[in-house]
Amino acid sequence: MSKKTKVAVIGVGGISEVHIAGYKANPDVELYAFCDINEKRLKEKGARHGVTRLYTDEATMLKECPEIEAVSVCTWNAAHAPCSIMALNAGKHVLCEKPMALNTQEANAMKEAADKNGKLLMIGFMRRFSDNMEVLKDFVNAGDFGEIYYAKARYIRRNGAPGGWFGNKEFSGGGPLIDLGVHVIDMVRYIMGKPKPVSVYGATYDKLGNRPGIKSLLAGYTASDADSKTDIFNVEDMATALVRFDNGAILHIEVSFSMNIPKEEENVEIYGSKSGAVLYPDLKMYTQQNDYLTNVSLAQNPKMGFEYMFVKETAHFIKCITEGMECRNPAEDGVVLMQILDAVYESARTGHEVIIK
Ligand SMILES: NC(=O)c1ccc[n+]([C@@H]2O[C@H](COP(=O)([O-])OP(=O)(O)OC[C@H]3O[C@@H](n4cnc5c(N)ncnc54)[C@H](O)[C@@H]3O)[C@@H](O)[C@H]2O)c1
Repeated sequence: MSKKTKVAVIGVGGISEVHIAGYKANPDVELYAFCDINEKRLKEKGARHGVTRLYTDEATMLKECPEIEAVSVCTWNAAHAPCSIMALNAGKHVLCEKPMALNTQEANAMKEAADKNGKLLMIGFMRRFSDNMEVLKDFVNAGDFGEIYYAKARYIRRNGAPGGWFGNKEFSGGGPLIDLGVHVIDMVRYIMGKPKPVSVYGATYDKLGNRPGIKSLLAGYTASDADSKTDIFNVEDMATALVRFDNGAILHIEVSFSMNIPKEEENVEIYGSKSGAVLYPDLKMYTQQNDYLTNVSLAQNPKMGFEYMFVKETAHFIKCITEGMECRNPAEDGVVLMQILDAVYESARTGHEVIIK
């Protein structure tokens, strides 16, 4: 029987559930320990998942459980860098939730810690593991799109601030750009073959806030401790930007927690010299064949379920550690993403284009 990888989860709030589900579904993993500064939540999670090694402090967990080989960091954003760096320095492999960090400086420090210790730092860009992304990537790699020169990354919510720490810049680093934008921007850059961003022009707004007066409940996903009426909200509620890459391609970003739109929308669109594609709700490609304009879709819609992507992401993380598989979401991709986000915020602040060196 092969040895099971002992995994700990740091931060056992909302998103940890899908990391835990992924590890529990993996016969090569032993879910070994949990850590959370919220002791009540920690105990509840431990009881729910049969994990008995419970710690309110990461340093103590790493000291008392040297046999832990890998950790998922599922804390709020401000704790990603300190928790990941501590785990990497203790010789653990790390799967860190998105966004990688609060800013590029922190992201670089995390990558340096991984490199210095020779450990894997994988970033939780889990949408790269959806089947529709894998299909689209296959078509792009086969040359079906020609040169991709324009793309759109949109993740807009009408009334969808997740509450709690998400609205507090000190803990989140920003609003929908760093929370939602990170997903769709990464998807586009990944599909395009990871071009280097060279300049950014962006704007952020806070006209609607988190809409505490709206009588309907918070829509969709919420932080574990969220109260839309009392939570601090000092981040942007909407952001838009244009990113230019070194291959001349342009990406248009549009994200919101609050906006007067008909409905929530998440989408990625790419436009190439041979074909274009829209990812949601089902992957559709637009091209020309034999001098006719044609639309291409798969006979069977690819799977995209939320939990399903985490099962694949966590399984990939374990395979990278145990079988030396090349990591699909390496730390450097997280660093570049943070450069884009920092540049959008800087451009919004100054009103000018920001050059990324
Ligand atoms: N991939 C996705 O689709 C997705 C979806 C939601 C959230 N996320 C990300 O997951 C992370 C967590 O979000 P969430 O919704 O689970 O938040 P949450 O508030 O539900 O949980 C965060 C938990 O981290 C704990 N924590 C904070 N600092 C800690 C520390 N230093 N040590 C140990 N525990 C600590 C908190 O006590 C809390 O229990 C965020 O980075 C968020 O961006 C990703």
